[in-house]
Amino acid sequence: MRTLTILVTAVFFLLSTASAGSQPQFMFVPVPTTVELGTGSLPITRSFSLAITGFHDGRTDRGAQRFLVQLSRQTGMFLKPTASEPSKVTLLIHADHDSEPVQKVGEDESYDLTIGESLAKLHAANPLGILHGLQTFLQLVEITPGGFRVPSVTIKDQPRFAWRGLLIDVARHFIPLDVLKRNLDGMEAVKMNVLHLHLTDHEGFRVESKSYPKLHQVGSAGAYYTQAELRDLIAYARDRGIRLLPEFEMPGHSRAWFVAYPELASLPGPYSFQPGSGPDPVMDPTQDKTYKVLDKFLGEMSKLFPDAYVHIGGDEVSGEGWDKNPKIQEFIHSHGMKNNQDLQAYFNQRLQKIVNKHHKIMIGWDEVLHPDLPKNVVVESWRGQQSLAAAAKQGYSGLLSFGYYLDLMWPAARHYAVDPMADAAATLSPEEKNRIWGGEACMWGEWTTPENIDSRIWPRTAAIAERLWSPQEVRDVNSMYTRLDELSWRLEWLGLAHRAGKIHMLHRMAGVNDISALRTLADVVEPVKDYARMENLKGPWDNTAPLNRLVDAASPESDTARHFADLVQRYVQSGFRDPDAESAMRALLTAWQGNDDKLHPYLEHSFLLSELAPLSQNLSTVAAAGLKALGYLDKGEPSPESWRTQQLADIGRAKASVADLLLMVVAPVQRLVEASSLKSASASR
Ligand code: ACM
Repeated sequence: MRTLTILVTAVFFLLSTASAGSQPQFMFVPVPTTVELGTGSLPITRSFSLAITGFHDGRTDRGAQRFLVQLSRQTGMFLKPTASEPSKVTLLIHADHDSEPVQKVGEDESYDLTIGESLAKLHAANPLGILHGLQTFLQLVEITPGGFRVPSVTIKDQPRFAWRGLLIDVARHFIPLDVLKRNLDGMEAVKMNVLHLHLTDHEGFRVESKSYPKLHQVGSAGAYYTQAELRDLIAYARDRGIRLLPEFEMPGHSRAWFVAYPELASLPGPYSFQPGSGPDPVMDPTQDKTYKVLDKFLGEMSKLFPDAYVHIGGDEVSGEGWDKNPKIQEFIHSHGMKNNQDLQAYFNQRLQKIVNKHHKIMIGWDEVLHPDLPKNVVVESWRGQQSLAAAAKQGYSGLLSFGYYLDLMWPAARHYAVDPMADAAATLSPEEKNRIWGGEACMWGEWTTPENIDSRIWPRTAAIAERLWSPQEVRDVNSMYTRLDELSWRLEWLGLAHRAGKIHMLHRMAGVNDISALRTLADVVEPVKDYARMENLKGPWDNTAPLNRLVDAASPESDTARHFADLVQRYVQSGFRDPDAESAMRALLTAWQGNDDKLHPYLEHSFLLSELAPLSQNLSTVAAAGLKALGYLDKGEPSPESWRTQQLADIGRAKASVADLLLMVVAPVQRLVEASSLKSASASR
């Protein structure tokens, strides 16, 4: 068998140019460390079978079972549910030894996958590598004129970073267990290994506590996980090679604590979940009682959550609650502290001792960074890459979350460009770099619901997963998007509702079966970026307010708009001579131009749609301008300047947000309108 060795960089070349030729189009996410392409392929037929040799346990067996279920979904074939005789199988799995009883940071996750024409072999040191290798195999399955097959390849793979996390905020809006589980399935598919649950915040305390039952009875506003449910979730995650990291926010972000136990707060209550009510909710770090409660509570939680780490939050302590309490101010002065930061460091030092007493290691957001803290505290950087580098320089290990905030509604490419080792970290010494363990995508919950959270997480999180797994040189954005588009529909096999959820929501908004015109509009808009939606609010943010508007349904990144922008780019680059791009643009622009007339009757019939009228009108106006510009470019006739001035003014207005939504096709249409001034278009025709 002739084997063609390709370096990782060559694989990207294939990935980004595959559509142009007959080269295989690998749809890996994340891209493996090395891929050697062989010739030929392994057919996937109804007689497909697998066997496990070497070390195996319940987790490996269940992983293999899940693999077969998934392969059945991908092929529609009924595959044998049980492992077969090693001598007769299609896929031979071998792990050398067991993994750690509680998954460790930096545990070996590597695997080798060799696919020949009659046999595939998956080898790993332990079951973690086996789980990852099985996902890689599933991503290789392709349909061909001759049937399903897996191309002959030899893959050697291991993660770049040991910590590849996803934070889900279940405090601001409660996310039920089944939704978390399907997201764990998605994480497994892209080889992520930490689910960080933000379990407590102002809006709710989401974990059952037997030592302080009012925390969940009163502090949850009715929605929390029982300990049995959490044990089930932890086992589910472990089965997929994923650690579960709990976060209990303190001393700030803690109103839910005080709704249940106001005596822990710095200022007298009462505290309630009423938006904007009550004093600044922050724990009183000067009273022993606070630490007694935290000791007992963290002792209980340390038994429930097996992971070696516990996240204590520590971010955004305003200090107002401390400033307004004379007893606390007196404590600061009498202990020789300079300010509230010193008081928080004092709190963290005492907290750290409690966490250690329960055999756990403390993680906090980057505000916890203080020279008084021991070096085994891990810092999660959310305010910038600078703080991650600063922590590493001072001897602390750290994780990057800055740049990976999914709630900011950035495009995947923007997250993809963020590298934990770049910027300030790039100048660190090798020893300091070793302290950077990876990063976490963060799904903050101000605007999430069980219905739309998948669409905020997927597929964008897969781009972050690749950043954290694949070699640093893997950064071709076109290749990433090609693979993300494919991954996106494949993720639906796992029950993720990142595409289906939007359709359900559009039906609700319209109240009718025919949502085609609404969908046309919905497919070209995105929610406003960063914190603009919060800033647009008229009153205090309220987590009990309905989330049923188009901004809640729309994808964070419009695939349609991205594809349209690509067409414009192709067309402009071709010197306006790409007829395929031109006809594809025309088809889209024509549909958009006529969409307002189709959508209008529906807008009047639904209070959830009426706010969209100006947006729908803008889409038609902008599309008409695009069509006209194409007309000029087509005829090779420069557009009149007065026409362009008028169109660019309309386009400028259409860039403003409407109903917290942005029309994402405006910028590419602007490009066409501006290009239509060119004489060169005419000269070439
Ligand atoms: C944070 O976003 N305050 C961690």
